[in-house]
Amino acid sequence: MLNEIKEVKAQIDAKIKEIENAAQLDEMRHEFLVKKGKIQSLFDRMREVPKEEKPILGKELNILRKFAESKYEEMKAALDSKDEEIPDIDLTISGRRHSTGSIHPVRQTIREMVDIFEKMGFSLAEGPDMEDGFHNFDALNFPPDHPARDMQDTFFIKDNREIVLRTHTSPVQIRLMQNQKPPIRSIMPGRVYRNEAIDSTHLAEFHQIEGLYIDKNVTFSELKATMMVLAKELYGDNLRYRFRPSFFPFTEPSAEMDIMIPGTDKWMEVAGCGMVHPNVLKAGGIDPEEYLGYAFGFGIERVTMLKTGVRDIRLFVENDIRMLQQF
Ligand code: PHE
Repeated sequence: MLNEIKEVKAQIDAKIKEIENAAQLDEMRHEFLVKKGKIQSLFDRMREVPKEEKPILGKELNILRKFAESKYEEMKAALDSKDEEIPDIDLTISGRRHSTGSIHPVRQTIREMVDIFEKMGFSLAEGPDMEDGFHNFDALNFPPDHPARDMQDTFFIKDNREIVLRTHTSPVQIRLMQNQKPPIRSIMPGRVYRNEAIDSTHLAEFHQIEGLYIDKNVTFSELKATMMVLAKELYGDNLRYRFRPSFFPFTEPSAEMDIMIPGTDKWMEVAGCGMVHPNVLKAGGIDPEEYLGYAFGFGIERVTMLKTGVRDIRLFVENDIRMLQQF
């Protein structure tokens, strides 16, 4: 019987090593620790053993039972603490929102304006952000002493004073004239740069969309009509706009277009425009005796301000997600 006790102990040892979950632990309890289990049945057999052996066998059996019970408890505690390692999941907590990106409001305006102009027969063109003085100034009839050529107004490239960050999209007009025969009917969106104090209506880096139409019979009233159609497409029929006489070296006569800020009685300047100056046509290789042209340039951030109700132009470049998410 001592051997049997040893045998059962060995079985318990082996069993315990295999246990990985509560069900297996319960099987072990049934095999060894319940009334009909192996240990109790050994106790039951004590009645048959000779008197002299009883004390020693009783002692061994008690040791065996304690051993089984302590192994069982140990294992149970180990399994319980394993359960605790699994973090509690609170299924009532609301989910995390995944926001999708959206197109920047200024980019949306560019797309809208390009669509409208394309419907009116304009084609899309582009020029470089770094321009030479000829395209940005000379060909556009800027006199040599014009203040725009000053470092106070314009960003020059450090190692080459001949190259500037374009101060407007008008140099693309010259590039088109140099590369294309009239009729020309194009729009030129792009980024422009000015060495300027930043405030609620001015940035040092912003966007313009230039327009150029060159043909044999081009009139100022066509220019106005084109700009008016654009504004009505963007803002609806209720918009209030006006043209003011103005001056640009590259157009004559020149004007500026203002649009009234909705809900106020204040005007916002959104574009410059005019009939292309004969000197500019000449610089572009086009005979001013044969051809006429009109040109305009819209400030896209300003157009977007009127469209969105954003009253401070700086918000467009701060990249505050709370602002951008609204568009
Ligand atoms: N280039 C001018 C500006 O940046 C705008 C303009 C474009 C005016 C075309 C007339 C014709 O202010």
